[in-house]
Amino acid sequence: PLAILPACKDSEGRAVERLAAEASPFLERKPASTGRIRELDLVAAPTNLALLDGRSLDVWAYNGQLPGPTIRVMVGDTLRVRFLNRLPQPSTIHWHGIRLPNGMDGVPGVTQPPIPPGGSFVYEFVARDPGTFWYHPHIRGSEQLERGLYGMLIVEEAEAPPEREILWVLDDWRLDETGQIDPRFVTRGDLAHDGRWGTVITVNGDVAPDLVLGEGERVRLRILNAANGRVFRPDFGAFDARVIAFDGLATARPLPADDLVLAPGNRVDLDLVASSRQGDRIRVMDRFTRRENHLATIRVGPSLAPIVVRRPNPGFVPTWSGAEAIAPDVTFRLNAKLGGPFGVQWMINDHPMHHDDQSPISEWHEPPYRLRRGKWTKLRFVNESARLHPMHLHGQFFKVVARDGRPVDEEHWRDTVLVGPRETVDVGLVPTEPGSWMLHCHIMEHQDAGMMTLIAVD
Ligand code: C2O
Ligand code: CU
Repeated sequence: PLAILPACKDSEGRAVERLAAEASPFLERKPASTGRIRELDLVAAPTNLALLDGRSLDVWAYNGQLPGPTIRVMVGDTLRVRFLNRLPQPSTIHWHGIRLPNGMDGVPGVTQPPIPPGGSFVYEFVARDPGTFWYHPHIRGSEQLERGLYGMLIVEEAEAPPEREILWVLDDWRLDETGQIDPRFVTRGDLAHDGRWGTVITVNGDVAPDLVLGEGERVRLRILNAANGRVFRPDFGAFDARVIAFDGLATARPLPADDLVLAPGNRVDLDLVASSRQGDRIRVMDRFTRRENHLATIRVGPSLAPIVVRRPNPGFVPTWSGAEAIAPDVTFRLNAKLGGPFGVQWMINDHPMHHDDQSPISEWHEPPYRLRRGKWTKLRFVNESARLHPMHLHGQFFKVVARDGRPVDEEHWRDTVLVGPRETVDVGLVPTEPGSWMLHCHIMEHQDAGMMTLIAVD
């Protein structure tokens, strides 16, 4: 609306200040440095692994492992990763969900030139927020992630209690007639739908693995959806499962896990108790699609360990009540048209953006949107299409405040939100990290076909 009464403007201004005041102290906190430096080499290269019940599979992997090595640091540690690119195409590493100096974000043509085959780059930053994060390339994700390049990055709280931890990296693979990863990437079909959905669902590279928990045992299960396009909705049946962190950050209280939707990019930490009898077998099912998928089987063995009593969650999540009434600062319309390098172009506000993976440094992107540090800001996603778009913002945490105009009070932060067909989703945030940050769909095929933009925070 063009005419806004000054009175409304003032009261809206005050409301926005109140919303920022609620969350800024939490979002702007910085841990003291531990002075420790954790150093590690990551080498991305084609390799051949015995996967899928011993069948051998040609993949691309970090350090010859799939998923890549789990990196574990403490809050306040400095992580220094020397990345070596032994792939036949340029790559970079992006640290998904991590708040870090903009220059370490791993985005080609934005924060660094693409790293050519044979090239290397040193990433270094202080781990600031405890939680489950991950790393992956930010060029041709449709091929590089699909072939196996991803791994978890876990930032521990200094005083975390000892607990048994289980990590699940979920993926799905589309294999061709020879049983290898189908090399037809970014097809018209992928683009007309929700990206590449594979036919073989894997957990840590295995099909429906078996896991044994002791009767009454309590574990922390960290789950990452590293698939190109598939959305998972894991169901733990009779087990007592609570969400204690989402996209890294702790929830304000343990939340029910009965409608747990994990879009590509999302992570969840579950407090899982094997709350059934010795000898029981729980089939963990994915119930996102009408045809359900078997993810894993958990067998209940004899009770071996005492139940670790968990401390109350340290998370802080603002309610941001009344935020649904505030006008959006920026609206992002999500849609597609025919054309572009793949035949279908996915766009944000009618503009496609592409990572130039050929020429090194010449083409730098200018951010079309600007946000102010410390100011409460509302972003609106309007999905004009009939497809799914998990929208991911780099370098900041946000919270959903409304869906289709109805207020939503999610009790957790996010860095990736699934926007359903024709849906409008409003998110609130207080930008804290200066720099140029990507906003994009985390369906790799949509992203590579243009569904990206840049937001400058200053
Ligand atoms: Cu996990 Cu820009 O992405
Ligand atoms: Cu999308």
